[in-house]
Amino acid sequence: MNTTTVARTSVLITGANKGLGFETAKRLGHEGWRVFLGSRDGSRGRAAADRLIADGVEAVAVRLDVTSDASVADAVELVREHTDTLDVLINNAGTPGLAVAPAEATVDELHAVYDTNVYGPVRVTRAFLPLLRAAANPRVVMVSSAGGSFAVVTDPEQPIARMHELAYCSSKAALNMLTVRYAQALPQVKFNLVTPGEVAHHKFAATDMNNHRGQLTAAEGAEPIVRLAMLDADGPSGVFVDRLGPVAW
Ligand SMILES: NC(=O)c1ccc[n+]([C@@H]2O[C@H](COP(=O)([O-])OP(=O)(O)OC[C@H]3O[C@@H](n4cnc5c(N)ncnc54)[C@H](OP(=O)(O)O)[C@@H]3O)[C@@H](O)[C@H]2O)c1
Repeated sequence: MNTTTVARTSVLITGANKGLGFETAKRLGHEGWRVFLGSRDGSRGRAAADRLIADGVEAVAVRLDVTSDASVADAVELVREHTDTLDVLINNAGTPGLAVAPAEATVDELHAVYDTNVYGPVRVTRAFLPLLRAAANPRVVMVSSAGGSFAVVTDPEQPIARMHELAYCSSKAALNMLTVRYAQALPQVKFNLVTPGEVAHHKFAATDMNNHRGQLTAAEGAEPIVRLAMLDADGPSGVFVDRLGPVAW
């Protein structure tokens, strides 16, 4: 008798050892997906993967520093040991930088933030495109921010309009444009953007990145990330959403 093995949907999430990345890994793992859990620190990644495995999830820890070409190449090799296709890539790893006042900000400070938030997703996307292209309905989810939206940052009602810094918001605005350009150039892969909050209500998710000052839980913040990861073949590409719906550019 012939048996057919139905391959599990697979996802790689960068920066998944904690925060929104970890919550996303947990949610998709509970959907029965195989989760490649990216973490720049090997032991933190293994500890996070072990928590998911203990919870019944098929999780594989992948050491992945998004600022290092060598680390990204090693991550591709490791994932290839498990699968020839990757259904979903979630570029979640991010850094807020030091929130230096614009008049004092240096190129070095900007570069460090861009290396993670802008060049990181480009490095990882480029390296994993062959595995993604081998999937039937490949999806890339970019975790951006309301701070990447010109509409939000120029709205005086939004608290972020009064938070003066250069690096973080401009890095996420660059990520937004990169994603639109990927979506236009590669119609066979869905590229979408998410901010893990509720822009209209000025809400964000409590994680280490904001010293847990967010009004939403990390699980709530992960909801729109999960939704974009689970888009079916008819779903959109090149959109920017939050928990409530579309976000203005
Ligand atoms: N929380 C919110 O409401 C909110 C709002 C807007 C946007 N975001 C975005 O959401 C994403 C996740 O943030 P979070 O709130 O979950 O913060 P978090 O808990 O601080 O998690 C950030 C994750 O990124 C990882 N990371 C940082 N630099 C990395 C690198 N070079 N290589 C690989 N991983 C790296 C961190 O790893 P370590 O543990 O090793 O530091 C950590 O796993 C970020 O892109 C952030 O900009 C969050």
